Amino acid sequence: MISVFKFLIILRMFSDHNQTFSMSVHTDVKRVTTHILQAMKAKGEKIAMLTAYDYSMARILDAAGVDVLLVGDSASNVMAGHETTLPITLDQMIYHASSVVRAVNRALVVVDLPFGTYQGNSKLALESTIRIMKEAGAHAVKLEGGGEIAESIRRILKAGVPVMGHLGLTPQSIYKFGTYTVRAREEAEAEKLMEDAKILQELGCFAIVLEKIPAHLTKKVSEALVIPTIGIGGGVDADGQVLVTHDMLGITKDFQPRFLRRYLELFEVIQKATEAYIVDVKRRDFPSDKEQY
Ligand code: KIV
Repeated sequence: MISVFKFLIILRMFSDHNQTFSMSVHTDVKRVTTHILQAMKAKGEKIAMLTAYDYSMARILDAAGVDVLLVGDSASNVMAGHETTLPITLDQMIYHASSVVRAVNRALVVVDLPFGTYQGNSKLALESTIRIMKEAGAHAVKLEGGGEIAESIRRILKAGVPVMGHLGLTPQSIYKFGTYTVRAREEAEAEKLMEDAKILQELGCFAIVLEKIPAHLTKKVSEALVIPTIGIGGGVDADGQVLVTHDMLGITKDFQPRFLRRYLELFEVIQKATEAYIVDVKRRDFPSDKEQY
């Protein structure tokens, strides 16, 4: 016979365990899949996508109910301070992606294949993708480009990995473009973009990011496709929107493109909090009696 005391201890251990378990595994949450995104387009429901590069931020964004988290190669700019997205490596993307995947209960996690890991070599593209899927536990990959990377996309899809396309301003080609201004203003480039969008759909991509193109072109492309388009600087008629989280929250202070809406000015908020902390430390105000052992 166990004593009442022992019984209470066991009960306590059981409830602590259950609490920890329910905090880390939300079995009641329905995960977003590529099929759900396509159904959202069919129903006219907009898709909300944001970037994430680390566990803590991804946890907040997922808890808020974002549909897709993109582990973008913009980590090269935002997390590492590089001028372009070109320097980030596959190992670094896997590190960021695995942190995000560990945080997420609901959102679909899409990971950018970084520059130099897929262009012009479909075998390499598949090897890079397999590393991302196996080592990070990602749900899908994103590649920049149209018909010219068809072979790589085909090979990745054949391996059973969902692919998101990316057309318009493709930052990995910045040295070809020479500037980050709006793409496809000219008829010829707009026609090529429409052609590429259809190729990506035909190949089997589940969605396409359209970056910095005229709003009327986004509308035309979105109406021509059954797969969803996700706009960034592409106007309201894309089937969803994506922003770089650090831009949206005002952590990156100097980046002010017209398409960006800042929902917070976190640079100032964090700076002020840090200044207050420094003052408290210097004045011996922190820690107080209650904040020590
Ligand atoms: O890397 C990134 O953050 C992106 C988005 C801007 C779409 O590709």
